[in-house]
Formats: sequence, structure tokens, C-alpha cells
Amino acid sequence: MAKDKQAYICSECRATFSKWSGQCPECNEWDTVTEYTPPAASQILGGYTGVRSEVTAMANVAMEDSPRFSTGVQELDRVLGGGLVPGSVVLIGGDPGVGKSTCLLQVCCNLSTSKKILYVTGEESLQQITMRAKRLDLPDKELLLLAETHVEGIIDIATREQPKVMVIDSIQTMQLAGISSAPGGVTQVRESAARLTTFAKQTGTAIFLVGHVTKSGELAGPRVLEHIIDVVCYIEGSSDSRYRVFRAVKNRYGAVNELGVFAMTDKGMKEVKNPSAIFLSHHADPMPGSVVMVIWEGSRPLLVEIQALVDDTYADTPRRLAVGLDPSRLSMLLAVLHRHGNIATYNQDVFINVVGGIKVTETSADLALMLAVASSLKNKPLPNDLVVFGEVGLSGEIRPVPNGQERLQEAVKHGFKHAIVPAANAPKNNIKGLTVQPITKISQALEIF
Ligand code: TYD
Ligand code: MG
Repeated sequence: MAKDKQAYICSECRATFSKWSGQCPECNEWDTVTEYTPPAASQILGGYTGVRSEVTAMANVAMEDSPRFSTGVQELDRVLGGGLVPGSVVLIGGDPGVGKSTCLLQVCCNLSTSKKILYVTGEESLQQITMRAKRLDLPDKELLLLAETHVEGIIDIATREQPKVMVIDSIQTMQLAGISSAPGGVTQVRESAARLTTFAKQTGTAIFLVGHVTKSGELAGPRVLEHIIDVVCYIEGSSDSRYRVFRAVKNRYGAVNELGVFAMTDKGMKEVKNPSAIFLSHHADPMPGSVVMVIWEGSRPLLVEIQALVDDTYADTPRRLAVGLDPSRLSMLLAVLHRHGNIATYNQDVFINVVGGIKVTETSADLALMLAVASSLKNKPLPNDLVVFGEVGLSGEIRPVPNGQERLQEAVKHGFKHAIVPAANAPKNNIKGLTVQPITKISQALEIF
């Protein structure tokens, strides 16, 4: 047999090369090129045996009435875009210990009372899983368990058992015969996932793949996975916080950036139906540096508290640190604050934190961030029934953000009485119980001090 030809692949951009190099010539990332054995063509295609499919007019494609089914967990359904689609492959990624196995075990046990579900584990023993299900009081009679790491074996068994949903925990432990690299390597992970995906599409089995994230925050190896599978969902949350946020970053069946919020309790993952309340720290007295804002996540508003600490610098260069917000946006907004708000921070360390461990990616946080910095610097608290949102431009202008009305309504629901918002977001009709101050320039917002 001819020796397999060696090749090299970049884990970032997936370009392949015949030579190894320290820096990827395509995307210029360092240390991303690793060895890989390209699978023989016959392995991928099974050999070409003539045309097996036919063209179909779109009008003639049969659509089932409601192909989705609920996972029994509303917050997870929301992230998936309204339920699980048969034949879809969903990657659940997250740090070790964040609760991937726990959450999927809960989903599987609950679904198993009405459907055939297969939970494949390559990491834990069947006893461990059963013990966990018992401890969490889950219905554990019907769920099928399998401890196996060989993908061919799993597919053989799944073909016989025909489960509606299958969990692979985790994809990094899986291996295909005929691929020489170790489990967890780029080639193994990619080819295993591709084989399982083919199985899902052929049989209509929905598959959850569990994927671990490396220290740098990426799925180990499998950025290479993201294009094969249908939904990529990450579980965020630090181990010191109870709360876990599910977020879809790719979804072929629904909107991305839809959030699902859970709390990790001694009885497993519990849904948080009203997540706004948990991202506020509920001080009895107003605190300097703390501002509440409304962000828009997916299809709903969320109240979030931003905290700033501004303190004299004792180093040569002042420190800028933002947890949960983009640090480069922080630097930009500090410059705007200086230029258009007359508040200087060049001799100050600035630390920003978003309460509850949530990541805010929206520009609507700009105004809240600037007011938090100003409030901490001046050591003057803002009223604790005040809510703000708005994007700030480089010339100090306040720009509107989408869904202004709904954001304000969410604030009223949680007892906020004052709002500072972009003029274009000011409601046409008064909202009962809320005084709204519309502004167009950052200097107007700073008049509050
Ligand atoms: P796990 O689902 O094993 O994490 P992953 O599969 O993502 O690696 O979660 C394990 C963590 O969750 C562990 O640190 C303990 C915690 N946990 C609870 O707090 N309550 C529970 O009921 C369970 C089962 C786990
Ligand atoms: Mg696990």
C-alpha cells in the first residue's frame, strides 16, 4: 500500500500546505499549522458509483408541517431558533466544567420519556452518568447509554437503534479507523464530525456534539468544524458565577445571538425565565461608577449593570481593562469623553466590569460606559432608578439604537423611573411611570453630575 501522503493544515484558515511552517502563509497566524493526513478520496466519497440524486424544482420539495420539536427546555429551544430540527447537527462548546454534559443529560432524560434517545459518552463511565441522573431526579428509565469512542461502531449501533436524538460527548474523544492522528487532533475531529453529520442527514437523527474549548477560547482544533455543522452554540459563564449563558454563533435554522440563560444549581441547570433581574447587583444605596443599561440580545431586552472603577495611575502608562466589553472601544470612548465631555482620564487607571459575567457586544453600551467612568471619577453616584442606553460617535453625538421602545418598556417593568436615551429613541407617547430625557450630545448626558 502506498504510504499516506503527509500534508499540513492551518487550524485557523484551514489552508493546506505540503510543507510545515511556523507562520501560516495564508492568514499569517503563528503556530497554527499542524500535520494532517488527508483522507483518501475513497474514504470521503466511498468511491463514485454513478449518479444517485436527481434535480428537483423548489416548488416540489416536500416540506413537513412542523419539522422542529421541542427539547423540553424553553431557553435552549430559543437558542436553537425554536426547537430542534431532525437531521441537524448542533455543536455545544464551552470550557470544561461549564455544564455541557449536565445540560445535555437533562435534555436527554426528559426527551427519553417520549422519544428514543441515545447518549454516547467517551469521557465518563455509564455509572457516573446514571449516578448523576439519579441525583438530579431525572427520569432515567428509558435513556439509552453507550460508552464508545469509535465512530464506525457508534454509527452501526445508531443505525440499528434508530434514535431520534443522539449526543456525542465529546467530539474530541472520537476516532475513525484509518486516520492515524490521535483523538482530539484536527483530522480526527473533523473527519469524525463529518461522518456523524452524514449519518444525521441520511437518517434524520438530530445530533448534539459536545466540544471543549481551549484556553484561548476556541474550540480545540475544530474551528475546522464550524462549516460542517448546522448550529454552533457556546455556553459562557465563569466558574465563580452561578449563571450560564447559551449563545448561538451560527444557526442555519434561526437567528444568531439569541440568548438562553440558565443557573447552575445543586439540582443541575435551571432555566432563568426572567433574566433581566440577575445581571443587576441590587445595591440598596446608589454607588458611584455603577450604571444600569438595557441591551438587546436576539429578540429580547436585558437589563445589565456596568461598573467602572477609575483610580490614579502609579505606573508609566495608565491601565485600561474591560471585562465583558470590548477594550478597544473603551479606549475610543475615553478619548471622546476627554474631547467632547472635558473629562480627562490620561492619568487614571480605568477598570470596567459587566455584572453577572455576560458579554456585551452592542454599541448601545457606549453611553452607559461613559457615564459609569464619569461617575466613578467624580465619585458621584447616579440615581439607582436611572437607566441609560445609546451609541456614542467620535464627535460626541448620541446615535439611536434599534428597539428603543421595547428597551424602555423592559426598564419600566423592573421599576426604573428615569431614562437617558438618544433623542431618536425617545417614545412618541409617554410611557407611564417613566421620565425620559432625550439627548443628542454626550455633554448633555454629563449635565446630570
Ligand atoms: P459538567 O456538565 O460535567 O461540565 P462539562 O461537561 O461542560 O465539562 O458540569 C460539571 C460542573 O457542574 C461541576 O463543576 C459541578 C457542577 N454541577 C453543579 O453545580 N450542580 C449539578 O447538579 C451538577 C450535575 C454539576
Ligand atoms: Mg462533560
